Amino acid sequence: MNVLKKSLLAITVATSLVATTAVMAQSASSEKHAAKATELRQSIFKLLGSNMGPLGAMAKGKVPVDAKTAEKHAIRINQLSLMIADYTRTDTSKFDVKTEALAKIWQEPDHFRKDIDKLTLASTNLIAAAKSNDESAIKKAIGGVGKTCGGCHDHFKKD
Ligand code: HEC
Repeated sequence: MNVLKKSLLAITVATSLVATTAVMAQSASSEKHAAKATELRQSIFKLLGSNMGPLGAMAKGKVPVDAKTAEKHAIRINQLSLMIADYTRTDTSKFDVKTEALAKIWQEPDHFRKDIDKLTLASTNLIAAAKSNDESAIKKAIGGVGKTCGGCHDHFKKD
């Protein structure tokens, strides 16, 4: 490959990265749109919660650590983390919707993006720990995931 082709390729790759990471917030167009967007946003977080439940129980010693189960939930959390940006894109802050989401989500998109990325990374670490079948590594990695949930909630979610 010649140099020009290489640099053109680099530019193309860079632009497509920007296109996928810089998710632009868009204000909801109506009360109905805001309600629907809120419902979808909360669905993602509900699924995150339902997958975190069994992991939390393992970390706390309430149920025995099971590497296969931990891996299943870690994979789901990892996949769900990749959907958060899309499902939080619609800014519903100007509408009267029942939500715990703070308007900061749309005012501080870089910070929010970073908090999403932390969850993606922590759940990737948990998948690796589960594959290693090392109980203490699994518990530690579950703690790492939980920290990223709490970190985002502290800043972007009402108590
Ligand atoms: C990048 C930020 C962010 C991360 C990371 C995050 N959350 Fe949340 N979470 C939110 C926000 C914002 C809401 C409020 C959504 C709303 O009410 O519209 C929320 C709401 C929730 C809810 C309530 C959903 C409902 O409406 O019933 C649960 C449960 C939840 N999160 C669990 C988790 C778990 C478990 C994790 C980690 C595996 C996690 N969240 C990671 C931002 C985050």
